[in-house]
Amino acid sequence: MERVGIIGGGQMGAGIAEVCAKAGVDVVVREVTQELAAAGEARIQKSLERAVSRGKLQQADAEAAMGRIRFTTDLRLMADRELVIEAIVEHEGLKVATFEELDGIVADDTIVASNTSSLPITRLSAAMSNPSRFLGLHFFNPVPVMALVEVVETLILDPEVAARAEAFVTEVLGKTVIRSKDRAGFIVNMLLVPYLTEAIRMFEQGFASKEDIDTGMRLGANHPMGPLQLCDYIGLDTMKLVADVLFEEFKSPQYAPPPLLSRMVEAGLLGRKSGRGFYDYS
Ligand code: CAA
Ligand code: NAD
Repeated sequence: MERVGIIGGGQMGAGIAEVCAKAGVDVVVREVTQELAAAGEARIQKSLERAVSRGKLQQADAEAAMGRIRFTTDLRLMADRELVIEAIVEHEGLKVATFEELDGIVADDTIVASNTSSLPITRLSAAMSNPSRFLGLHFFNPVPVMALVEVVETLILDPEVAARAEAFVTEVLGKTVIRSKDRAGFIVNMLLVPYLTEAIRMFEQGFASKEDIDTGMRLGANHPMGPLQLCDYIGLDTMKLVADVLFEEFKSPQYAPPPLLSRMVEAGLLGRKSGRGFYDYS
């Protein structure tokens, strides 16, 4: 696969575009406005500069990678792509509307994937006229650093499509793949998100300070970040949307978003992306 399209240039879309371009792939990134396209471009530029300054990437290779990425607001530029990966906000209606529009643009044999954290892939695939070519490719944040991609298979996925997508992710992008069946949260978020929301509940109930909760899991379990730091890193809006999806799927209170999480999102406290979440990043 030599031509890949990414829909969304936020944290995840920019990260996926970056790893594809570094691997020599021609990339088109679609954002909703010129301003967001410019923000996505700046995000990738900053990440490449960071890799150069750390001696992990040659300046010429960073420039070549940047040269392989085009930014657009026009979804029609996905027409010649062999693989399109959607990475927009975790909202089923917005994702479905995007896929319905994409369906009239891409070729019959294009493979289409969603990077959703939690939404069942089958429901998203129904927006496409050929759902057997649709799968979940769930990357992890930050994409240039995290080694894992979950390949999420629906009951109607063409096995050859899954094999091609897996070969691309492993052989071209150098990631490790695990395969998941299609249910909300797949493998990793089914385990990770209840842990994170439990940490929010512990803090909300006043059982421990946020610093002690985070230090506890960093030093007591060797996690690189404590759970509240990780919530801020993921984005509290995304956390809330993912918890909603898990609760809707399993109807168990353990998956429900804690009220504090909902209040923080309503107040615009989204974590690092807004400058304040459980911690202040200003
Ligand atoms: N882009 C590119 N590289 C990055 C980066 C980024 N955004 N952030 C960090 N790095 C690289 C650095 O360049 C550095 O590389 P070297 O040491 O080789 O030079 C390395 O990562 C470590 O970075 P730092 O020293 O700056 O900082 P750190 O040691 O605190 O690591 C971290 C930062 C990699 C983010 C680490 O804290 C970590 O792994 N945190 C946990 C991340 C995690 O759990 N992600 C999963 C989130 S859940 C998810 O993704 C699923 C979902 O659906 C919500
Ligand atoms: P983000 O907030 O950084 O970016 C959201 C993107 O959605 C932006 O590009 C924005 O322009 C776009 N968008 C917003 N409204 C839109 C609309 N109406 N139409 C089209 N595009 C719209 O979010 P993110 O963290 O990059 O998450 C993107 C996807 O990746 C979500 O499905 C999320 O669940 C998933 N994901 C997130 C993480 C994480 O740790 N943040 C990890 C894995 C997967």
